[in-house]
Amino acid sequence: MTNDNALHEFIKLVQKSDNIVFFGGAGVSTASGIPDFRSAKGLYNEDNLFPPETILSHSFFLEHPDIFYDFYRQKMIYLKAKPNTAHVVLAKLEQQDKLMAVVTQNIDGLHQMAGSKRVFELHGSIYNNHCLKCHKFYGLDKITETSGVPRCTCGGVIKPDVVLYEEPLDDNIVRAAIGSIRDCDLMIVAGTSLAVYPAAGLINYYSGNKLCLINLSATPYDSMANYVIHQPIDKVFSLLDI
Ligand code: OAD
Ligand code: ZN
Repeated sequence: MTNDNALHEFIKLVQKSDNIVFFGGAGVSTASGIPDFRSAKGLYNEDNLFPPETILSHSFFLEHPDIFYDFYRQKMIYLKAKPNTAHVVLAKLEQQDKLMAVVTQNIDGLHQMAGSKRVFELHGSIYNNHCLKCHKFYGLDKITETSGVPRCTCGGVIKPDVVLYEEPLDDNIVRAAIGSIRDCDLMIVAGTSLAVYPAAGLINYYSGNKLCLINLSATPYDSMANYVIHQPIDKVFSLLDI
């Protein structure tokens, strides 16, 4: 199916369905000014002293929390970012009882900012942080309004509830995401290279015949999808007249 036909079919499917699940990644937020990871201009193609996969690992966090926090504050937090068309349309689809869940690998909270309620954040959120010692909760301001390694009143190091490399995903969130994917009629996968597991593997729980993949570049799942659209997601969602 050509790009144009797939796009046309996609719009019709969304209009007809009342049981949609959206599965997204960093490409959903690039139009909001947050760079993705693996594109040419992505975070993983910048020159850093350590590879980002190293800095964003559990063992590195424990050994060098100061370097981690320098990187994290500069590269992972975008306080001025606002939801784009894709986030806004998804929130509207949920309000209209057409969208059952957003499953996201993003940690930016933009789906909730747009009004989405059922959001499964596979990789956590910058808005939640906990003391490693006493587990006290801290918001994002504790990270942005301090410098160096943020510490709890008990003296413990505060860690973002963001899933780092070497860390498992939250079981409850994965279970909920799988449940919604298994039960949905139309699955939209967008803005993700589908290179990171276990997140990418969740697509395999979809057993329907309406898997729509919207991504600027090709992904390993293109051949499995029923409709593939290589266009910007914000542009595609702006065509959904809802
Ligand atoms: P990637 O950077 O790997 O992939 C983003 C994909 O979005 C790329 O294939 C781009 O071509 C595409 N893209 C960019 N802008 C787009 C747009 N406007 N419309 C459509 N497509 C667009 O990001 P993720 O797949 O989300 O994990 O990466 C997965 C995980 O790797 C992240 O959650 C992060 C990272 O390590 C953690 O931080 C735990
Ligand atoms: Zn504490």
